[in-house]
Amino acid sequence: MEKGIKRVCAAGMVLGLSAGMLAGCGGGAGQGEPKSIRIGVSVYDQYDTFVSQMMTDFNEYAARREEETGVVISIEIYNAAGSQTTQNSQVEEMLDDGCDVVCVNLVDRTEPTTIIDMAEKNQVPVIFFNRELVEEDLERWNQLYYVGAKAFESGVMEGEIAADSFKEHPEVDRNGDGIFQYIVLEGEAGHQDAIVRTEYAVSTIVENGVEVEKLGYAIANWNRAQAQTKMTQMLSEYGTEIELVIANNDDMALGAIDALKASEVDREEWPVIVGIDGTDVGLAAVAAGEMAGTVYNDKKGQAQAMLDLAYELSVDGDLTELDLEDGKYIRLPYAKVGPDEVETYME
Ligand code: BGC
Repeated sequence: MEKGIKRVCAAGMVLGLSAGMLAGCGGGAGQGEPKSIRIGVSVYDQYDTFVSQMMTDFNEYAARREEETGVVISIEIYNAAGSQTTQNSQVEEMLDDGCDVVCVNLVDRTEPTTIIDMAEKNQVPVIFFNRELVEEDLERWNQLYYVGAKAFESGVMEGEIAADSFKEHPEVDRNGDGIFQYIVLEGEAGHQDAIVRTEYAVSTIVENGVEVEKLGYAIANWNRAQAQTKMTQMLSEYGTEIELVIANNDDMALGAIDALKASEVDREEWPVIVGIDGTDVGLAAVAAGEMAGTVYNDKKGQAQAMLDLAYELSVDGDLTELDLEDGKYIRLPYAKVGPDEVETYME
């Protein structure tokens, strides 16, 4: 086994290669004895906590599948480092290298055309993941797939956690006016999860009978450091008037916590903080009582579904077992994680 081999390419770092032995390109198992398959992956940003944890799960599961099937699974993971142009070149390289399937975490989910055209020309299927392109783009060719989650569900669950906290712990209504004063820390503008999560989180709190008042919001691009900066600014403006922080992901919730820790706000005066993802650091914050809860974004399930799909596509196998929605989509459900559930998720 040659695990975690690293090589550097012009466009950025290749994170890892091969769940097992290095195989020749395009060794698709096809009919007869399966031998080897080659999967190319490009992530929009290797420093994104959720995506990098998903990639770890992807590699681990590939190693397991390799043992089970006896098929050598080679994986190349490229970091597009926030550039769609870089990502397009990476996909071109993967296709030249003879990958059997490419998995793309789009940098710009509105710009998949170059990748789709190249893949179709080479007749190599593409699995897009986590950053959802619009349906019309996914319909451009019959070998395009998407693996992700049900965005609205995460917003609903986050809203339920917030509403329950307000109802079950009257002290979180610091000024006692019966209204939950909140701020939002949003992910990238234009990302399907950012738009949908904010909308559903807030509407769910209201539907659960809790009146809300929005004090402010800031875009922090899924990023902890940016969220800390934005939260620091909002703290200087609103101070302890903020009773609730709705963060579109755990990293930004943690950025808010960093800001609170660096501020003069006493721990007892902290707002309720809710996140989404259930990353290792997010779960630790729930366990420590710093976050009221998070919503588990099933990175393991998504990684496994993507590998299973990539495997079947590479060996011209059977897709019927995979439960594809409209023949193209795999969307894993979310789950609420509060103090009672957190241990289970921390394993
Ligand atoms: C995750 C975020 C992540 C983003 C990247 C979202 O689904 O919840 O944590 O930064 O995807 O695209």
